[in-house]
Amino acid sequence: MASEIIRDIWELYGVRSNPFSTAPILVKGGIIPIDCFIGRHDQILRLGKTIGSKGGSRCLVFGDVGVGKTSFVNVVRRYAVDNGIFSPFKEIAFQSGWTPNELILNTLGGIFTTIKLSNKKLLNDETYSKLESLIDVGYNDINYNIGALGAVIGYGKDRKTTNRVISSSTLAFFDSVCQEIITNSGHEMVIHYNNVELLSEKEIKSLFENLRDFFQIEGIHFIFVGNLSVKWYLQSMPRLSSIMTDTISIDTLTFDEIKEIINKRFETMRIEGLEYVVPFTDDCLKILYDLWGGNIRHILNSFSTAIQERTIEKAEILDENTLTQTLKSVLQKRYYSQIPTPRAKDVLMEIVKKEEITNKSLADKLGIPRSNVSQYIRDLERIGCVYLKRKTGKDKFWSADPSLKWALLKEKSYVQRPIQAFKAQQP
Ligand SMILES: Nc1ncnc2c1ncn2[C@@H]1O[C@H](COP(=O)(O)OP(=O)(O)OP(=O)(O)O)[C@@H](O)[C@H]1O
Ligand SMILES: [Mg+2]
Repeated sequence: MASEIIRDIWELYGVRSNPFSTAPILVKGGIIPIDCFIGRHDQILRLGKTIGSKGGSRCLVFGDVGVGKTSFVNVVRRYAVDNGIFSPFKEIAFQSGWTPNELILNTLGGIFTTIKLSNKKLLNDETYSKLESLIDVGYNDINYNIGALGAVIGYGKDRKTTNRVISSSTLAFFDSVCQEIITNSGHEMVIHYNNVELLSEKEIKSLFENLRDFFQIEGIHFIFVGNLSVKWYLQSMPRLSSIMTDTISIDTLTFDEIKEIINKRFETMRIEGLEYVVPFTDDCLKILYDLWGGNIRHILNSFSTAIQERTIEKAEILDENTLTQTLKSVLQKRYYSQIPTPRAKDVLMEIVKKEEITNKSLADKLGIPRSNVSQYIRDLERIGCVYLKRKTGKDKFWSADPSLKWALLKEKSYVQRPIQAFKAQQP
């Protein structure tokens, strides 16, 4: 029984693991091998020059969700690490509610984890054990840790852990750790902060304002990754934007690049001695590319879902129609089957067509009372197919789960098109 349930479908396609995985490329290890990274040559050279040049820097890398920001920065950091530059391997993910001290502590945590893995002696024994005792007290218990940071580096016990102002001893300890690493490695270092957009505008502004000095510590290259709004927030702070070194935009990849990435993944993940099968036609990639405006994360995720759904006993090759039918049948199982009334589904389809829409617009468009719209939305929200995107005053803006965009795919009719074309030429 268990062997019927637990099956590796990717083996049928001649590959070791899911070639449509949406995991980012990591500096070291990771599911997606680093050679699978394609394109972005100009940006790689640009960021490479900045972090390779002495004097420290602050760069913002920005772009839409899932376009490849984290992977891009990780690939550049991999070049840096291969050149002897120190960088905490795992990018440091911004967390809502962080105080400046918490950010510094988390950065020290990332530095320590990487030093532990490194076979070079980057810190002298005293600094290493100070850092170790700081991290070892329980890295997850951040408040406890801030207290411990005080004990280790010697600031007053009564100091408030939520203090928004960064303490000079914290800064000094951080600086001494970094300067030792820089001296011992013979290179400056790189720190990558990921997903700045997880903080609210207010939090971003307050944190960056308070950490302005921290981000100017000598010999450190700071890379911040965020979405477009992060770029606006930082630009609107003159004191901060004046210290930024560069701002790099990460756009969607081209159709050919995405095709190359998928082929490369199959090539790299192939099982020795087996032929691999790329399970879709070019047309499939084209319709997904257009549906998602080139967003690689959504394209990979659509393929992954369709292939997993479709594969039973042998490898399948999807064409435009089978892909569309499969993704729609996933929607049917996941969502439609739970929608209580056809009217609620009409509401959902209206939401799917828009980036965001209010109850009022829905009521106007569909000609149904607002109170009914609210009930339909409550039902849809409960099933998990719509969510509240934002609220301004009384207006609530609703969006559909991204996978619902599959509803917009159209099956191609092979019979009708030539007939229509013929008709159009008739007088
Ligand atoms: N240039 C590229 N070459 C090969 N694969 C890429 C490239 N860019 C992105 N990918 C792949 O696309 C997926 C999304 O990339 P990534 O996670 O880096 O995006 P992101 O912009 O950081 O997303 P998020 O906004 O969610 O943080 C990953 O599976 C990654 O491996
Ligand atoms: Mg990312």
